Amino acid sequence: MNHKTLVAERLAALIPSLETEQILALLEKPKSSEMGDLAFPAFSLAKLERKAPQAIASDIAEKIDTSGFEKVVATGPYINFFLDKAAISHDILKSVITEKADYGQQDLGHGRNVTFDMSSPNIAKPFSVGHLRSTVIADALGHIYSKLGYNSIRINHLGDWGKQFGMLIVAYKLWGDRDVIEANPIDELLKLYVRINAEADENPDLDEQARQWFKKLEDGDQEAWDLWQWFRDESLVEFNRIYDKLDVSFDYFHGEAFYNDKMDEGIQILEDKNLLKESKGAQIVNLEKYDLPPALIKKSDGATLYITRDMATAMYRQRTFDFAKNIYVVGQEQSHHFKQLKAVLKEMGFDWSDDMVHVSFGLVTKNKKKLSTRKGNIIRLEPTLDEAEARALTQIEAKNPDLENKEAVAHSVGVGAVKFYDLKSDRDNGYDFDLEAMVSFEGETGPYVQYAYARIQSILRKADFVAKSDADYRLSDAESWEIIKLLQEFPNMVERAADKYDPSIIAKYAINLAQAFNKYYAHTRILDENPERDSRLALAYATGIVLKEALRLLGVDAPEKM
Ligand code: ARG
Repeated sequence: MNHKTLVAERLAALIPSLETEQILALLEKPKSSEMGDLAFPAFSLAKLERKAPQAIASDIAEKIDTSGFEKVVATGPYINFFLDKAAISHDILKSVITEKADYGQQDLGHGRNVTFDMSSPNIAKPFSVGHLRSTVIADALGHIYSKLGYNSIRINHLGDWGKQFGMLIVAYKLWGDRDVIEANPIDELLKLYVRINAEADENPDLDEQARQWFKKLEDGDQEAWDLWQWFRDESLVEFNRIYDKLDVSFDYFHGEAFYNDKMDEGIQILEDKNLLKESKGAQIVNLEKYDLPPALIKKSDGATLYITRDMATAMYRQRTFDFAKNIYVVGQEQSHHFKQLKAVLKEMGFDWSDDMVHVSFGLVTKNKKKLSTRKGNIIRLEPTLDEAEARALTQIEAKNPDLENKEAVAHSVGVGAVKFYDLKSDRDNGYDFDLEAMVSFEGETGPYVQYAYARIQSILRKADFVAKSDADYRLSDAESWEIIKLLQEFPNMVERAADKYDPSIIAKYAINLAQAFNKYYAHTRILDENPERDSRLALAYATGIVLKEALRLLGVDAPEKM
């Protein structure tokens, strides 16, 4: 239980005229810690009880149950509560030391499934920073939901279908070279795609050919199908290299094509419910009552759309996974699409559409300017991740030249830095992609937190410390108290991050905890001979456990040495 609730409940037992909730709202934090940790002003009771607030305060202070508190005293009209820091630190250290990485684990989900629609790059197109954001945010949310007892299912909804494949096939047959593509799939396929689009502007016949090839593909023509499969495989080789670097894996690669044969059912339901209206030859669903423009379900030539596939996708997921939540981690620019999708499903009578959540995120800039392929302001992910590792390695070599496994540590630090920087910003705010700031060991960065963890491990090694769950560790000084309070908050933070679908809550928490520890370390000589030495080491040990666990929830490693 948190301290505020404890105080409120103790007070409520003596104040029949107020509810615990009302008391909670009245509690104040005293201006100085000499006045205790929490204070209750008795003014509010004076009128009700027709007594002077001073008298009420001293009366309550006398009668209240003080277990768990160092003392409870009346100061004028206030009742001041001094928490028993020693006892609380004892309890928290014991919990963390006993539960270790399970500290904060809960069973709110009872094993129910939560699906994450994540990453989802488009075949034959570059993997963008938006796809990176989707990948790392969803991966972190997956860990966070698992920590709360849900079963997280990671699904890559690859963009692997559409008219562009007709274009690609035509381009490949005109100008493509298999070996060249296999050496560098995305770049080469993109070149073909750009070229065919440019030439089709001049030569409409190319468009017509592309249309025919896409039709063949849809009809299952062998040649078209083999080419499509090959484009997809080659693109995936490249995407998988990025996923390996990021240490992210998926339970399913169910792309858009997976739903080719699963759209009829949804369309049938729309028809049966009389929801499909014709508009200029196309089929639409009116969404006026949701304050949304109509959703276009089928084009006049019968072709299905992005949203038609997403309808089938949601129905498939509901049926296959019976999800508690179906979460889509996709950029803000698609928020309109997901609103329409939910509204259409709701119209179809699917109340589970209430459990679909679009977790959106903001744009990334570079040198404070919008990314633009045309203007050459682009971020190429693979070389950027390599560069992050190289920069991490340089810093490690300067700080700790004898470190073993330098490359592996540099990988954890470099990639962790990019992820952490992405995750620490509030989702809906974008950020400027600044590799130097990301990989810095100073400031609010992943390496800063990792370094705090590694420093703790080095202290523990020097002391040869073995934490015991039945030892009587306790601390009551102000510096350790800051850490104890943070350790106590961790389970709550995990819950809040899940409720708000926002890993930045955990990232900020990790920074606060690392900073609190570094402050403590600067102030207290942990390793010196002292009656509190073991308790101080236990505090360091528990901090290490929670730091490592917070990083794990973000998908970031915590090297033992750095
Ligand atoms: N492939 C899309 C893109 O790159 C993202 C897909 C998001 N997921 C979905 N179920 N619509 O923009």
